[in-house]
Amino acid sequence: MAPILSGKRIVLGVSGGIAAYKAVTLASRLTQANALVDVIMTHSAAKFVAPVTFQGITQRSVATDTFEFWHDAGRLRIGHVALAHAADLFIIAPATAHTIARLALGLSDDLLSITALSYKGPMLLAPAMETNMWTHPATMGNVQTLRDWGVDFIGPEEGRLASGEVGEGRVAEPEDIFEVACKVIGRGGPLDGLRVVITAGGTREPIDPVRFMGNHSTGKMGAALARAARDLGAETVLVHAPLAVPPPGGVSLVPVHTAQQMYAAVMEELPQTDVLIGAAAVADYRPSDSVNYKLKKSPQQQVISLERTPDILHEVGRQRGEASPGPQLVIGFAAETNDLEANAVDKLERKNLDLVVLNDVSAPDSGFAVDTNRVTLFERDGNREAWPLMSKDEVAQAIMQRIVARLGRLDWKRSQPKAEDGSIESR
Ligand code: PMT
Repeated sequence: MAPILSGKRIVLGVSGGIAAYKAVTLASRLTQANALVDVIMTHSAAKFVAPVTFQGITQRSVATDTFEFWHDAGRLRIGHVALAHAADLFIIAPATAHTIARLALGLSDDLLSITALSYKGPMLLAPAMETNMWTHPATMGNVQTLRDWGVDFIGPEEGRLASGEVGEGRVAEPEDIFEVACKVIGRGGPLDGLRVVITAGGTREPIDPVRFMGNHSTGKMGAALARAARDLGAETVLVHAPLAVPPPGGVSLVPVHTAQQMYAAVMEELPQTDVLIGAAAVADYRPSDSVNYKLKKSPQQQVISLERTPDILHEVGRQRGEASPGPQLVIGFAAETNDLEANAVDKLERKNLDLVVLNDVSAPDSGFAVDTNRVTLFERDGNREAWPLMSKDEVAQAIMQRIVARLGRLDWKRSQPKAEDGSIESR
């Protein structure tokens, strides 16, 4: 779930291309996140997908005609003015070369372009067109003009195009557009201007080129934290071992495999890091004699000797105690099966952390791989809080709220949804 979108007014412009069908999935995803989605279709878009499809998905009117009026808070208002003034975010997906050109030129010859021209606020475009149209200097110039005005773009991607050819021009996937929409609308939130670095996933320590020592971490908890930080306006970096889930959009990804690589990546990030969260399950040991050929089986017992890996958070904590002030907040997770509290407090102190999030990984609904977590927070000042079972997204959002509070940003003002009930009444 993305609470950042809840109650937000989103205008979804759909221009005419075969990729218009993907906008249906996007409209559905946004609506499921409790956003109020007003779809504007160009006449050619309506040839690819019937407006009634969007109407059914969003349960709101779909606009195609410049000369339509809308009932807005008891008043009859000109459609494009009402939509443009109410919107918190304007997405155009797919955005054709023609639509991009009209926006860049400030043309206003249909409802979509006139509403875009009347709108002041964050805008996200997901272009879709043939490769030659995308790479044409005219399109590149128009895209640059819009970027200079602060418009965000996602894609286009490489892939199979309507023509059957393969190249750059395929519209971004609806889920990716959704994720970047969360980032765009979250800008200016309470973590604005801060860089949050999160580790995620289980490191893999090679035994030989085909085998490794690993653990059950999927990266779900770390990915949820990255989404939650991004949605509050943080510049977010996810240093991740291989993930079993899609990586979150709108965050910088730093892929690694081993504990040593994760250590190096975190140390490189550290000077620019305001908040560091260690949600990765980092191997404490690695094979000391990893070989670069496949080990063959033999009748004899095999013994693999192990050596210690660097402890990333311990090193961060040690450096904080020295000359450099380090990040404002360093947060660790403790994955425990026994002596839960004692182990969590030991990690808090030994690694010089501000906060430890303890999860009992022996419980079936908590810790590794599942979508839920039951955690207890241990803070430096002795505060201790046990939270009920929540989804990992909810745990991540609650941790971010704790970070916001600790950084003294609770009263941060961000733009609220435009209308009390968010409604422009149906026509
Ligand atoms: O990825 P999921 O499937 O969603 O599962 C989530 C999770 C269970 C992995 C996550 O919630 C979690 O508990 N992560 C920390 C797991 C862990 O390795 O805990 P630990 O008690 O071994 O380590 C304590 C802290 O030190 C952790 O923040 C860890 O990232 C860090 N550490 C550990 C070892 C090491 N060499 N370097 C470290 O920085």
